[in-house]
Amino acid sequence: MERWKVEKGSSERKIIYEEYAQKHKMKTLNIEAIESKLVDTIFNRKIIYEQVVSSTNIIAKEIALKGYPEGTIVIAETQIAGRGRLGRKWESPSGTGIWLSLILRPDIMPVQAPFITLITALSITKALNEVMGLSPGIKWPNDIIYNNLKVCGILTEMDAQTDKVNFVIVGIGINVNNDLEDFQTDIRYKATSLKEVKGKRVSREKLIIGVLKSFEQIYDKALSCGIDERFKRRILDEYIKYSITIGNRVKVIGIKGEKEGRAVDVTGEGELVIITSDGKEEIINSGEVSVRGINGYI
Ligand code: BTN
Repeated sequence: MERWKVEKGSSERKIIYEEYAQKHKMKTLNIEAIESKLVDTIFNRKIIYEQVVSSTNIIAKEIALKGYPEGTIVIAETQIAGRGRLGRKWESPSGTGIWLSLILRPDIMPVQAPFITLITALSITKALNEVMGLSPGIKWPNDIIYNNLKVCGILTEMDAQTDKVNFVIVGIGINVNNDLEDFQTDIRYKATSLKEVKGKRVSREKLIIGVLKSFEQIYDKALSCGIDERFKRRILDEYIKYSITIGNRVKVIGIKGEKEGRAVDVTGEGELVIITSDGKEEIINSGEVSVRGINGYI
């Protein structure tokens, strides 16, 4: 596959990640084992699997533009220019986590697309519960949190016209077998991995299968009813059940400054509803802001 031009400093990062994988005798993914469990799902085609990429979202976007179908999955052992929300970078050491992107071509209006992110957060939370017996929470819009630390992030990107979605790329990053030393100092106190939580290595294959099956179940229902109001409310209620943001005081940090309030709801478009200190209702759009708990990250 054609290689992408990567940002400055990424070759150094590639060497660090590869040395890390060798030192820790990291096992690479068994892709056939994953494919064999997905034959009866929308993800029933050959997975695009690479050792090193810039970002799986970038590769997925490029091949989606070339016409690759819905259900195509891109997985990499390392991303040297992994991307997070709000222009942040996403650390992706070799062989440790799940760095994966999905190509979706939902027949929905662009305004409905943020709902795909909610569905993704919900399905990962459910899979962590079903596959690993964990009870994580969702920090709005889409961080999966365990013990107040981030274990998974989602970056959804869309290509659309005014009234039509061409494709959506759902990028999922899960810290699975990372050791604390994998995390750079700026996120070391905000992030954790499933290995740290469970005290032992975790099968990335099992988790990928669990997440994709859980996602498909909800996504399938969403599309078959055109994400109608009843379905939306049901999913939102479930999302809110796992939310660690709703019901709490939050600080919203946006380009126009900061404001505080209480998070009270999530709209069908995936926006956060807060009541500010002076009693006003405000709708917060995830694209522009970062939300923190009053007492720190959560
Ligand atoms: C965030 O929480 O800021 C979102 C992080 C998303 C990371 C994943 S890893 C796979 C995919 N490729 C990327 O470059 N980013 C997403």
